[in-house]
Amino acid sequence: MFRIIKKETMAQGITALTITAPEIAAKAKAGHFVVVVAKENSERIPLTIANTDKTAGDITLIFQEVGFSTKELGLLNVGEHLEHLLGPLGTATHIENYGTVICIGGGVGIAEVWPVAKAMKEAGNRVIGILGARSRDYIILEDQLSLICGELFITTDDASYGRKGLVTDSLRGLLQAVEKSTHTQYPELVYAVGPVVMMKAVSELTKEYHIKTMVSLNPIMLDGTGMCGSCRVSVAGKVMFACVDGPEFDGHLVDFLELQKRLNSFKEKEACLNIACPRKT
Ligand code: NAD
Ligand code: FES
Repeated sequence: MFRIIKKETMAQGITALTITAPEIAAKAKAGHFVVVVAKENSERIPLTIANTDKTAGDITLIFQEVGFSTKELGLLNVGEHLEHLLGPLGTATHIENYGTVICIGGGVGIAEVWPVAKAMKEAGNRVIGILGARSRDYIILEDQLSLICGELFITTDDASYGRKGLVTDSLRGLLQAVEKSTHTQYPELVYAVGPVVMMKAVSELTKEYHIKTMVSLNPIMLDGTGMCGSCRVSVAGKVMFACVDGPEFDGHLVDFLELQKRLNSFKEKEACLNIACPRKT
């Protein structure tokens, strides 16, 4: 069980693993995540299911190797097995025919946007994609998303590919074009996944235009089943658990500053522990 059948480097430090998991693949929907345990005694890592092949019975996870545990996961190779895989978890994305949906992915968040864009297209929506990354080398899944999106806009912070700037520059351009036009309409939904600052900036912009906006949050998670409280976030002033109530929430109601503060406090702890890259044994 949970055998790695494919491993691909998507960009520097971003790895895709395809894993045999027929029971999870059978139930998985866009927006679901799994909790991965790479080896006995490894940390539990929550990862969104980027792709599912229900016929073959496998799922694909795309992750950035940033800390000890994701680096440890990235050391596993084809033919090896994950110690454990729990899922599908979380509340699946609400999919319906809204009309026009703009899907925005920032950095490795592009991987989370892929299944949602696909499901939105299958539901009959016109899907517009905006992908942003630091530089050309970090733009992932462009070919896959260009097959789904009627229009696909790419931004890079350093101007190495597409338009120079942030995803919000492209979004603002699209919304301003609608404002000036007499025959185009605002999108019915914006769906955004990426760094917290990006999701905050996207939500602030769409709020000006009263466009419904969903974001997928990435707080620290432990059990992934609503038991430990580590993934708590504030939405519309209420405490919610991202692992069961989310991870998707209305971006206009999320307390992004609190989320960022909680994420930063964990980063400081990790840095204090001076965790080094794991070595394969
Ligand atoms: P990054 O920092 O390189 O940013 C990616 C893109 O986001 C940028 O190119 C830019 O277009 C946009 N962006 C960044 N800051 C912005 C701002 N202030 N305003 C508007 N747009 C902005 O991304 P990375 O290094 O790939 O990191 C990805 C981040 O996404 C990580 O922090 C990771 O934790 C997070 N993430 C979130 C989820 C989730 O479910 N929400 C999933 C995967 C990753
Ligand atoms: Fe423990 Fe959500 S991860 S309650």
